[in-house]
Amino acid sequence: MNYHEQIARAAALIRESTGFYCLTGAGLSTESGIPDFRTPGTGIWEKIDPIKTATVEVLQSNPRLFYEAAFNRFASITLAEPNAGHYALARMEEMGYLKGVITQNIDGLHLKAGSRKVWEVHGHLRSGYCLGCKKRYPFEELVQQVELKRIPPVCRSCYNILRPDVVLFGDPMPPLFYEAEETLRRCCDLMLVAGSSLVVYPVAFLPSLARKLIIVNLQPTGYDSVAEVVIHEKCGKALHDIAEMLSPREERE
Ligand code: APR
Repeated sequence: MNYHEQIARAAALIRESTGFYCLTGAGLSTESGIPDFRTPGTGIWEKIDPIKTATVEVLQSNPRLFYEAAFNRFASITLAEPNAGHYALARMEEMGYLKGVITQNIDGLHLKAGSRKVWEVHGHLRSGYCLGCKKRYPFEELVQQVELKRIPPVCRSCYNILRPDVVLFGDPMPPLFYEAEETLRRCCDLMLVAGSSLVVYPVAFLPSLARKLIIVNLQPTGYDSVAEVVIHEKCGKALHDIAEMLSPREERE
């Protein structure tokens, strides 16, 4: 299949589906200026060892390393804007095709683009909490303290360390991951994976719950061999073209 045939096939699968969900990864946000983790040459984990920085253990044993390594990335992410891929998924939901998005991304760009049903299974950067008394804070509180070189940021009540509401290596998965998994198990007859290497479990298990798969990813994934359609194109372009194919003629650009 050539690219146009792949887009047409993807749109046909979406039209005939009754439970269409999308799973997104860092590759969807690279076109918003946020580097992903595993693209050779630019992926974050080529420069920083995640196991030595973005973990619960490092946060507690060496909070300065955590806040100096992982936190800069967090703060830059909050400045990013959605791209054509995020807006295309919001349109697919608006048109009534897409039932929900499960995202590994903590950048909040799906919500910024107007998607309503979004499971942020690796957390987000809107808030944080105290490791001691669990008091909650807006993310800006952590940023402000770090900017004032108060590293690690501490709780204003009990002076314990503050942490962001992201899922770190070593954290349990949040309850909404299991809610998403249950929903997929019950309802998902078609999943589109956009911008994920599908190598990090348990999220990488989720595509196996879909009856049919569409994959939009620049590099091959372990699920390519079982997907109905594999589109090796940028998410921004491919998702936009699929949404265009789905939209009524009079609304097409
Ligand atoms: N369009 C399509 N695909 C892209 C684009 C793009 N513009 N940019 C990058 N990609 C692809 C890459 O080829 C890669 O296969 O997106 C994929 C991103 O994979 P990862 O960097 O591994 O990101 P992700 O799958 O989201 O990682 C999962 O790993 O470190 C943890 O918690 C972190 O949530 C993250 C998890």
